[in-house]
Amino acid sequence: MARSTRDLGKIVAYQIYIKSFCDSDGDGIGDLPGITSKLDYLASLGIDYVWITPFFPSPQRDNGYDVSDYCAVDPVYGTMDDFDELVREARARGLGIMLDMVLCHTSVEHAWFQRALAGDERYQRFYILRDGRGSAGPGDPGEPPSNWQCAFGGSAWQWEPRLGKWYLHMHDVSQPDLDWTNPEVRDALVDVVRSWRDRGVAGFRFDVVNLISKPEVFEDAPGGNGRRVVADGPHVHEYLQELVERAGIGDMLTVGEMASTTLEDCVRYTAPASRELNMVFNFHHLKVDYRGGNKWELMDPDIARLREVFQTWGEGMQAGGGWNALFWCNHDQPRIVSRLGDETVYWKESAKMLAGMIHFMRGTPYIYQGEEIGMLNAHYPSIGQYRDVESLNYYQILLDQGKTEKEALETLAARSRDNSRTPMQWNGERYGGFSEAAPWLPMSARFRKEITVEAQQKDKDSILAFYKKLIAMRKMYPVIAEGEISFLETGTDRVLAYQRKLGEQQIVVFCNLDGEKHTVKADGAWRGDPVLLENYEARQMDPEGETYTMEPYEFMVLGKV
Ligand code: NOJ
Repeated sequence: MARSTRDLGKIVAYQIYIKSFCDSDGDGIGDLPGITSKLDYLASLGIDYVWITPFFPSPQRDNGYDVSDYCAVDPVYGTMDDFDELVREARARGLGIMLDMVLCHTSVEHAWFQRALAGDERYQRFYILRDGRGSAGPGDPGEPPSNWQCAFGGSAWQWEPRLGKWYLHMHDVSQPDLDWTNPEVRDALVDVVRSWRDRGVAGFRFDVVNLISKPEVFEDAPGGNGRRVVADGPHVHEYLQELVERAGIGDMLTVGEMASTTLEDCVRYTAPASRELNMVFNFHHLKVDYRGGNKWELMDPDIARLREVFQTWGEGMQAGGGWNALFWCNHDQPRIVSRLGDETVYWKESAKMLAGMIHFMRGTPYIYQGEEIGMLNAHYPSIGQYRDVESLNYYQILLDQGKTEKEALETLAARSRDNSRTPMQWNGERYGGFSEAAPWLPMSARFRKEITVEAQQKDKDSILAFYKKLIAMRKMYPVIAEGEISFLETGTDRVLAYQRKLGEQQIVVFCNLDGEKHTVKADGAWRGDPVLLENYEARQMDPEGETYTMEPYEFMVLGKV
């Protein structure tokens, strides 16, 4: 891998959910020219890479993660010329464009699947097709081949009479999984990645890429959790090495989305000697409010567990020579301020604290559109406003389980992926400056003038200004980019603290994750160090003191840099 830890540690990436970022042609849907029109804004943040979610032709069952043609642009998002212009204009501003490669599955509308349906055996071998259990013979479906459930609810298997088989879909029924054991599939996907590389993109995010290698035998999984048994499968490392090598992307920025993964595998995915990926997204820190590990069962966040996860992954990846992508938000997660912060009284303080908490860690931070202005969850009052296939499926599942409509809506309000997909809030106009027309997904009910780019650009104390500082500090201070991380005991679960060290340079970061004051142990050798950054004004630690009382959601960084 061409990149050193030093390089990776200096990078900050920004994620764009194209459908909701900026609509240039007034159809209520974001598009490529819309992104191009905002490149100056993106450059003004100080970020380096822009990851754009899929804009390839797609029936949009899963908003573009159901790809029907990997090598073209969906007309709703623009043209290939628009894409080339975006890449050119981004480059002119020192920004690299990263594409989202959805190589674990296609859409049922992809030509490969269509040919398979039409009886072409070559393309039938592109997918994972099986006979049913207890089938009496051809034409009799029997039962699904295993008890696996798909990510969006229901069986992961679909009987297809035209194939006379069940096909595997780990996500929506319209997203059949590709069979990576077939070398022809791997060849075809190498060609896809290489063709985008040749168009001038600077990096790739690989969607659920640790699900590409299925187990040799498809056995039932405990609780039907097929994802657990499919994750980090037998050939995944070998397939990734092959893809990176053959597509010629070893010197580009690469990040893999790793579902239900392990630390051990993530070290392997990212340690330079493996020649796989630069970094990984894992989601363990975003499950601390899932009761019993179930996304659809609400629970207050377990902050002690959150600390444990960050410590395990921060220190563990470091020990193994791996590299983390650092993030709170993306297009699948609720807004972090609504989730771990405070939407009202301490909106600004908690947004800054949460941002600072991950931006000083060891890894590469990713900012999701709107996070930098503290955008909040959607708070939709009725099911009619939701669009996401997962939300709509689970609403029904929750009702079927006996929940009332009110309870089901409360669950969606906390967990729906639409929470993060509401239109970007550029200004205080009716549709937030995102579009002139009614957007494809309604604005967040918490949209207000203070939570817009326009308002925050005028305010030196804004969340936006704070994000810019965080980005600039990472580039300025090698201890943030390269330093060793270790977690500190604070004496309370509500306050998370860690230290970064590089030679003589050191910083200590304190984050109060609570809306109450908390007194922490503050007796380390660093206690007289100057405050480098804080989210309350003029706070100091007593250089003689043994303890320090933190304000609600207070964030403080001390250090010698
Ligand atoms: C992960 C993506 O982030 C999500 O939006 C999508 O639904 C699934 N992968 C399936 O592609």
